[in-house]
Amino acid sequence: MVSLADYAGREQSYVKHVFLERYLEALIFKTASVYDHIVYVDGFAGPWQSANERFEDTSFGIALNALRRAKETWKNSNRNVRMTAFLVEQHPKAYAQLSTIQPRYPDIEVTTYPDDFIGIVPRIVADIPPSAFAFFFIDPKGWRIPLLKLQPMLARPKSEVTFNFMFEFINRAASMIASDTVAGLDELIPYGNFRARLAEAETGAGRQLTPEDRKDILLSAFTENLQQIGDYHYVVPTEILRPLTNRTLYCLFYATRHEIGLQAFRECQTKALDAQAETRAALKVRHEYYDSGQKEMFTSLHDMGPNETATLRANAKKAAEALVLRLTPKAPEHITYKKLWPAVLTKHAVRLPDVNSICAALKKKNELVFLDWEPRGRVPKDDYRMQRPA
Ligand SMILES: C[S@@+](CC[C@H](N)C(=O)[O-])C[C@H]1O[C@@H](n2cnc3c(N)ncnc32)[C@H](O)[C@@H]1O
Repeated sequence: MVSLADYAGREQSYVKHVFLERYLEALIFKTASVYDHIVYVDGFAGPWQSANERFEDTSFGIALNALRRAKETWKNSNRNVRMTAFLVEQHPKAYAQLSTIQPRYPDIEVTTYPDDFIGIVPRIVADIPPSAFAFFFIDPKGWRIPLLKLQPMLARPKSEVTFNFMFEFINRAASMIASDTVAGLDELIPYGNFRARLAEAETGAGRQLTPEDRKDILLSAFTENLQQIGDYHYVVPTEILRPLTNRTLYCLFYATRHEIGLQAFRECQTKALDAQAETRAALKVRHEYYDSGQKEMFTSLHDMGPNETATLRANAKKAAEALVLRLTPKAPEHITYKKLWPAVLTKHAVRLPDVNSICAALKKKNELVFLDWEPRGRVPKDDYRMQRPA
């Protein structure tokens, strides 16, 4: 398990790793029930600023442990799943460490590449057997990624991807006019002309855009690019904040073609946001303590005031409820629940159990009608048809 103690001074990486650990743990296990071979690809593997000698605070360490646990669990049910990791690291010093890890994981086939990831995408894709399911993790240090060069990987069938979008740098770069910067950003977000969208929104508003407005435009533009280039049905972001301010530092985009992935993503996002709130509260306490020179030490994080994710979560649920009602047609038309809930999870940071409860409550208030609800049923099922009263 990842431990906050390994992340002093880089708490944002802790949040990223909490997400990665939960997500890989859930989805590698589930996917291995169907596929006999799972491949994890880490394009920018590190180790990078690792404080743990067993690499438990690195993305590849987290992934290899998740592969190992899933393999062991399935083995106990007499199911043998082949687990492979392809790890790429360009920096010679980091690679020297990376290249030594295979003996730690004798049950997993590890291949390391001392290369520029972008340059070897075609080779990596060719190295993945067509029958395997692949998880791609792309976590560069900067933002200069020509997205179309990743297309062979992003568009591979039986795959999904988590991409770290370095929002703070990208947002800054989006206001720059140096031709090199402009060209770099156009390669990262090649379709949809995000610059024209920013300019149009500004003209429409008749004022400078707020940071939130700019963020919405940039994140939507990247979402659409991942969707289009990788042919993904669902692309959803989770924002990681700077530890001591409310500014978004980067944004993890998750892309999948399967509803189960979307469902797992929202569960893991909730855990990661809880971890974020806790680390931010703890850090603020520490900073205030040092800044004021007080001798008194806070013992409870609750002294910080309400959990900062609680408000966000309540707002997301409210917005989800409104969307449920908007998406459900009036009788005699209907929509099935399995069509509705993924649409809601794509748009708002809520979990499937939240949408279940929202629907059950709306049914109780007669704002929704379920045609197939079973007598003692408590939550909706995928094949239920639903409508609003005429
Ligand atoms: C942000 S760190 C990765 C951290 C790691 N994913 C984690 O979460 O533990 C980025 C890593 O990518 C490496 N790197 C930078 N450019 C690269 C490239 N073009 N190809 C492969 N590795 C690269 C850096 O040396 C660094 O170790």
